[in-house]
Amino acid sequence: MSAPRLTTPRLTMPALGLGTWPMKGRDCEAAVGSALGLGYRHIDTAEMYGNEEAVGAGIAASGVAREDIFLTTKIWHDKPEGAAFRAAFAASLERLKQPYVDLLLVHWPSPALNLPSVLTALAEIHAAGLARAVGVSNFPSALLRQALALDIAPIACLQVEQHVMLGQQTLLDITQPAGIVMTSYTPLGKGEVLEHPVLRGIAARHGATPAQVALAWLLAKPLVAAVPKAQSAARQAENLAAARLALSAEDLAALAALPKNRRFVNPDFAPAWDLPLA
Ligand SMILES: NC(=O)c1ccc[n+]([C@@H]2O[C@H](COP(=O)([O-])OP(=O)(O)OC[C@H]3O[C@@H](n4cnc5c(N)ncnc54)[C@H](OP(=O)(O)O)[C@@H]3O)[C@@H](O)[C@H]2O)c1
Repeated sequence: MSAPRLTTPRLTMPALGLGTWPMKGRDCEAAVGSALGLGYRHIDTAEMYGNEEAVGAGIAASGVAREDIFLTTKIWHDKPEGAAFRAAFAASLERLKQPYVDLLLVHWPSPALNLPSVLTALAEIHAAGLARAVGVSNFPSALLRQALALDIAPIACLQVEQHVMLGQQTLLDITQPAGIVMTSYTPLGKGEVLEHPVLRGIAARHGATPAQVALAWLLAKPLVAAVPKAQSAARQAENLAAARLALSAEDLAALAALPKNRRFVNPDFAPAWDLPLA
């Protein structure tokens, strides 16, 4: 089976992809291969993950046509200027052994970020066809608004942490009207939100699993994609099947009522986040 697609004027992508951090080497290559074999057509990697070679090898060995795969990579925050960003992206393409990626993201903002310079690099890379779409990750609302107001690069996607305990409504209020896809990372809350009795109850009623409920809640939102990481084929298949789970209005309301203030990814270099809406 394959995941439903999200289509905007700036991109078309499968709503469910495979996250690849922190897999490396043979494990990563095998996970990418098994996911593609199961029907995944969206793979999420990054320069910082140290697995772009393995991801590229997994794609090459899969036999799936490259144009059928949506491949995302990201450039780390230690390249806050356009020249360093462009050079790092060229190295990413080499490691991936790819002539282009489908989506290129600024991985994190840093205090040193020269926003116009990096957005100009994104725009040039996009215009050259080396990234079919471009965007940003871990941008809080003020910085995202600034990037959109500069109107230098055609921002098509924002990747942020999002799950049943972190709703990101402040950012959705920007991305959805602007036709920007929000890709949820850590969509299973690293597996830690799956024990919650509300998720377990909904899963039991549908004959589904808590992971499928967590993913279906995200995919029910307009213009939201998710990239759960799973090493095993069994969990990959379980997660992909979440796209078929239709939650009721009552289920969605129960999930919406859960606290939305739990953040699992908060490194010391993170920006000042938006406060969760009550
Ligand atoms: N842009 C960014 O800054 C950023 C930051 C973090 C992550 N990401 C991306 O988002 C991806 C996913 O995020 P994440 O890895 O932090 O967290 P996640 O996807 O929420 O959780 C991954 C954990 O959940 C487990 N799991 C997977 N499927 C499951 C299932 N069906 N039932 C129970 N447990 C399951 C995995 O186990 P296994 O060990 O069995 O695989 C792993 O321990 C990353 O791989 C990366 O591609 C991006």
